[in-house]
Amino acid sequence: MSVCTCQAKIGPSILNADFACLGDESKRVMEAGADYLHLDVMDGNFVPNITFGATMVKSLRKQLPDSFFDIHMMVSAPEQWVDDMADAGADQYTFHLEATDDPVALIKQIRAKGMKVGIAIKPGTPVEKVLPYVDQVDMVLVMTVEPGFGGQSFMADMMPKVELLRQKYPGLDIEVDGGLSPKTIDTAAKAGANMIVSGSAIVKSPDPAAVIQELRTVVQKYLN
Ligand code: DX5
Ligand code: ZN
Repeated sequence: MSVCTCQAKIGPSILNADFACLGDESKRVMEAGADYLHLDVMDGNFVPNITFGATMVKSLRKQLPDSFFDIHMMVSAPEQWVDDMADAGADQYTFHLEATDDPVALIKQIRAKGMKVGIAIKPGTPVEKVLPYVDQVDMVLVMTVEPGFGGQSFMADMMPKVELLRQKYPGLDIEVDGGLSPKTIDTAAKAGANMIVSGSAIVKSPDPAAVIQELRTVVQKYLN
């Protein structure tokens, strides 16, 4: 059971929303009670899909001046977009460990621009690789699908990574991303995840507020 001393936070991903209406879709999920917005930036190189960049983040910021934006950078050159994302209004810059040779320099670069730092690992990356950096970041993202697309199945075999992080770091924000829904949330929450990204389950639901509340209730059940 989790011994987390942190808060339950639900962050919808709008990856599977209608991209012609991202402003309205983002507002809709925030008004439904989300704690933050998880924005998936893909470059067609680090992952086999392309989404959007800082220009879109800037436009969404105008629509949602006060929401917390966690930018999930699925890009090959995360160093390249730090300034643009900060200027666009990003609150947190979550980069992939696999995409950089110098995580420490990148963390410093992100902090210098006043953003929080998230560090993400793909399913094939052992959790031990991220341990040297945990003390320097605000959040660790354990991917529970191969990054690139929404609507994939949750990989429960990633939970030992979450359990190990939670055991070592009771106060750490641990985010899970991919295939999270009312069906899979118990497994993730029990392992110790407290920041829950959920795309299709929220965006495609006729009652997003109910889904968000259900996810949060399950996470809270396992928090101290
Ligand atoms: C996958 C993205 C996720 C994903 C979440 O590459 O990082 O944020 O789209 O969507 P669902 O919840 O549909 O898996
Ligand atoms: Zn994501």
